[in-house]
Amino acid sequence: MKGVILAGGKGTRLLPLTLATNKHLLPVYDKPMIFYPLQTLKDAGIKDVLIIIDPENAGAFLRILGSGLEFGVNLTFRIQDSHVGFGIAGALSLAEDFCKNDCLAVILGDNIFEDSFKSAIADFEKKRNGSCVFLKKVPDPSRFGVAELNGEKVVSIEEKPKKPKSDFAVTGFYIYDNNVFDLIKKIKPSGRGELEITDVNKAYLANGSLAAKIVSGFWSDAGTIPSLQNASELVKGNAIKNKACSSC
Ligand code: G1P
Repeated sequence: MKGVILAGGKGTRLLPLTLATNKHLLPVYDKPMIFYPLQTLKDAGIKDVLIIIDPENAGAFLRILGSGLEFGVNLTFRIQDSHVGFGIAGALSLAEDFCKNDCLAVILGDNIFEDSFKSAIADFEKKRNGSCVFLKKVPDPSRFGVAELNGEKVVSIEEKPKKPKSDFAVTGFYIYDNNVFDLIKKIKPSGRGELEITDVNKAYLANGSLAAKIVSGFWSDAGTIPSLQNASELVKGNAIKNKACSSC
């Protein structure tokens, strides 16, 4: 299983903060944002990680992450040029050579999770087939991809629906088999002109090969000013909780 972190993009929802640097280098509580998805992949047992970055801030990524030695992972970087209409799925297509024939765990660089994905990845590696998305109940589903469930089965997914069919957001952690790259080549840009990760997930759903699990710990994206603030508060709260426990 390879790991892919998508950390390119313009971060326009965080302007003017992102005039100075890439969104994923901004602080979430006491660390640069990119440390968290990297730690999530590492904790899941993934050793080889590709980080998709923007050309303007490539030097800063290399300066703070280096080869990955200090994190105990092997890092590879790939530049995402600034395309209009590229989207998350377009960025993911840049990982095709890196993944060769392997399966992949993909995490959006602005997603902060408390959960470990170790057992989900171990389960996926037994079959190495299809895909798995991770859902979390949220108060504001219209901001996200939203999954409609029938029992434990996903029956539909919509990207940022005005009238969400549930309050289950599709979080930014995905496991895919190697077929994902062929599926991306078949999808078309959405109404907002992007290759949507939701359309990739919908293609798996249509094939009957989309599994879903619920995330139990905290989760936040950090791509807007309020969610960046929220992510910092959650990390801070968790750091305090862990500190209290280790001193009991
Ligand atoms: C992206 C995805 C969306 C997902 C979200 C999770 O949205 O398109 O489906 O729910 O990440 O963070 P974006 O934050 O790029 O608008």
